[in-house]
Amino acid sequence: MIGLILSFDPKFDYCLDQELTELGLPTRSLQTLWPGVAFLPVADPAVQRLLLHETPVFLRHMFPVQYKAELTQDPVTQCSDFVASVLANLAPQTSVAVQSRVISGLPVETRAVKTAMDDIIRSMGHVPTIKHPSHIVSLVFTDDGVYAGFSTPADNLTDWSGGAVHYSQSGGMLSRAGHKLEEAIEVFRIDLGGLRLALDLGAAPGGFTRHLLSRGFSVTAVDTAEMDDSLRNHPQVVIYRDNAFGLDFRPGAFDIITCDISWDALRTARFLARLAPALVPGGILIMTVKFMGASPLKTIRAASHILGESYTLVKARQLWHNREEATLYLTRKDG
Ligand SMILES: C[S@@+](CC[C@H](N)C(=O)[O-])C[C@H]1O[C@@H](n2cnc3c(N)ncnc32)[C@H](O)[C@@H]1O
Repeated sequence: MIGLILSFDPKFDYCLDQELTELGLPTRSLQTLWPGVAFLPVADPAVQRLLLHETPVFLRHMFPVQYKAELTQDPVTQCSDFVASVLANLAPQTSVAVQSRVISGLPVETRAVKTAMDDIIRSMGHVPTIKHPSHIVSLVFTDDGVYAGFSTPADNLTDWSGGAVHYSQSGGMLSRAGHKLEEAIEVFRIDLGGLRLALDLGAAPGGFTRHLLSRGFSVTAVDTAEMDDSLRNHPQVVIYRDNAFGLDFRPGAFDIITCDISWDALRTARFLARLAPALVPGGILIMTVKFMGASPLKTIRAASHILGESYTLVKARQLWHNREEATLYLTRKDG
């Protein structure tokens, strides 16, 4: 490895910078290639392991770079030897995805790159794949040259190119709202097996609720605003059109709470800390922390501290579907 390509929301680059500095990484050598894409020249694999174990909230995706060169010939030809060499050691019929990004005015067609690399993958007895590959070839083309890497999806934090999670856009606004929850479940690798009862706070118009229903949950949905028509008489949905902060629920009533309330994050965290007994021990809380003009890292840390009384924070990330917010995944502490 000669470095890492890091992807993040350029609006929050200063937050990622702070987090990397706190981890003791040499942020002064970070080279911005494009807004939201940077190269960290580090050869020590311990840095990659550190970022996998203590992933900064504002890091969306990364890949280890093993080959970096100025473009001296046709980009496809230039990458071919690298790709052939990394594929040579794989077991036959391994599924491999090619993720390429052109972040400059270079006359390189990502589609042409992918087609050429897929041909190499096939010719070497492997299977070009888009979804859930076992390995990923990552290529980034800039004015400076090409950065190429070979890794597993787990090494990259997600198996989506640059962390840009694209779900099917059919189904309109409700589906789009639900994608935020879908992404959290996927990126945090949350196991929902055996869970049945969900409380969805700040539920309207109903994207989260609909996604929970699609996963077999019965949902109690709370919002001061109206839920979508399609959910109002749904047999698996109970709706409270009410202020969530005034409600209470019996102990152990839910396996999972999702909270997307657009309100002050610290007040919401205090409410959720009080509400913890409504979850079964070990139950799951997925919460969006809205920044609302406040300092993002400070807000996330203050909310996590408040929630820490009653929950264990498993992961916190500013996901692809998050705007001015981050998503937290917590579990209820026992007792
Ligand atoms: C981002 S929207 C939620 C979107 C929803 N998760 C979905 O998937 O469709 C935020 C919601 O929080 C609700 N909200 C804000 N304050 C609330 C409160 N005190 N009690 C209940 N709902 C609240 C708003 O009415 C709004 O519908």
